[in-house]
Amino acid sequence: MPLEHVAIIMDGNRRWADLRRYPRLKGHQEGVKSLKRLVRHVGERKLKYLTVYAFSSENWQRTEEEVNYLFELFGRVLTEEFAELAENGVRLTFLGQLAAMPPKLRKSMENTMQKTAGNTGLSLQVAINYGARLEITDAVKKIAQQVKAGLLDPADITEEMISDNLYTGGMPDPELLIRTGGEMRLSNYLLWQSAYTELFVTQTLWPEFSPEHFDQAIADFAQRNRRWGGD
Ligand code: IPE
Ligand code: IPE
Ligand code: MG
Repeated sequence: MPLEHVAIIMDGNRRWADLRRYPRLKGHQEGVKSLKRLVRHVGERKLKYLTVYAFSSENWQRTEEEVNYLFELFGRVLTEEFAELAENGVRLTFLGQLAAMPPKLRKSMENTMQKTAGNTGLSLQVAINYGARLEITDAVKKIAQQVKAGLLDPADITEEMISDNLYTGGMPDPELLIRTGGEMRLSNYLLWQSAYTELFVTQTLWPEFSPEHFDQAIADFAQRNRRWGGD
């Protein structure tokens, strides 16, 4: 079964820290290490697309301290990891409403996207300030603009057009969506794109999710019978 695109909801950082009586923010630090391990691993596995959920449009409801810490952490990781990512041919993009990001972080995200745009290795998408409903709403607005300009007849709007106008435009839908931390929900992630995606939920908390766990999810996926509503 071909596997090109895996999406991950990296959940359970704070529970991981709570269990060890560490400050909760340490959970996020460890989460970053887990992502680094995985990116190296999937680079070797020749996966084409990896899309990870780092901060949802609803995560603004967390304390100011946590939100600020997360943004600082993202900025630091970008600076520290850029060279290795670029060296390994990783193409890094960010999905979400980036305009709401702190200006310095936003600049750094835009620079990274620009500088890695020509890379041909793994395409790594990091969903930041991402919400699938926001994404779909943004796509509808773009399409409505074309209708308003007289360039498009509403009767000609297709599913493909909607897909193309999402932040993930041009990418194949994920075949597999992994959620760590055990919650059985999508939390506003890739709602359109995962119409027929296979789901894999593991109790393992994100900081503990290892390349071996990832390979187990892939092995499980390989046993699935994907029917797309057919026989
Ligand atoms: C996922 O871990 C990371 C983010 C949402 C930023 P959480 O912070 O949600 O940790 P839990 O799920 O509360 O343990
Ligand atoms: C989803 O996790 C968002 C990320 C992993 C970035 P949450 O922890 O925010 O999701 P809920 O609140 O359990 O649904
Ligand atoms: Mg969570």
